[in-house]
Amino acid sequence: MGDYVDLDRAENGVATLTLHHGKVNALSVELLAELRELAAELSSDTGRARAVVITGGPKLFAAGADITQFAADPSPETFAIAEPAAVRRVGAAFLHTLNAVAAIPCPTIAQVSGFALGGGCELALACDLRIASSTARFGQPEILLGIIPGGGGTQRLARLVGPAVAKDLVFTGRMIDATEALRIGLVNEVTEPEQLDARTAELAATLAAGAPSALAAAKRAIDGGLETSLEQGLLVEHEEFVTGFATPDAAIGVRSFLANGPGHADFAQITVPTPGPGAV
Ligand code: COA
Repeated sequence: MGDYVDLDRAENGVATLTLHHGKVNALSVELLAELRELAAELSSDTGRARAVVITGGPKLFAAGADITQFAADPSPETFAIAEPAAVRRVGAAFLHTLNAVAAIPCPTIAQVSGFALGGGCELALACDLRIASSTARFGQPEILLGIIPGGGGTQRLARLVGPAVAKDLVFTGRMIDATEALRIGLVNEVTEPEQLDARTAELAATLAAGAPSALAAAKRAIDGGLETSLEQGLLVEHEEFVTGFATPDAAIGVRSFLANGPGHADFAQITVPTPGPGAV
């Protein structure tokens, strides 16, 4: 059990990271450091996961950056805003940790109950997929503190929902409910609160049983392609398509299709990280 983040590993390869910090899972520099280490572990050869779930537990996901770290002196009479070096430390913690989460080479799911605000929303955005309880609330309220998002809220959010919707959320700082989050594409799916755990576990298990190299390649192609022109992105996809045929995933998947038809390939037999090209 970590000081701020618990890691639970299931036999099917699903790793679950659960945030626990104070009343609202405030994302302090210390919590982010722990999360970054765990993201690196789940990406490593020795600790590789097949699917990762990030959750804040049943009450709330996370209410954003730890605002107490924004002040050098929090008392109203003698208040002083944080020193530039301290602010840079907070910003760097978000930048590097959320990049490490985004770089986990298997599918990642944010399981969101209650508030996912500011850095909490940005952490969910660093995951591949988001499943929300109908009670979930999302927002980038930084503007209401006179600051801007610092963990991808102007970048990952705009890429996901488009610049106009991102500007609406970032400029107004308003909170949206799960229905609106689904409508704008911020979340993939909304469930009733009592079904959230089971539905997330079901999706994570399906992904964990999938073709690991192909899933990693698909993630690289989509994320890498978004950072470049269509022409370049198509070349990224082309390379991943061609090199993917040298993996056990392709050998097992194509052989299974030709012998037994679609949907019967046993990819769970492949160990992660995968053996070298051509091995089956
Ligand atoms: N960082 C540090 N502490 C926070 C926090 C944050 N991001 N958000 C809430 N807290 C603290 C509150 O100060 C309060 O502490 P206290 O009980 O010691 O007084 C406690 O968590 C509970 O918050 P409270 O506002 O009383 O609960 P609520 O249920 O009425 O509202 C929120 C919950 C999350 C909607 C509300 O606290 C909120 O809007 N938080 C800030 C969100 C935000 O602006 N995030 C972006 C940061 S850049």
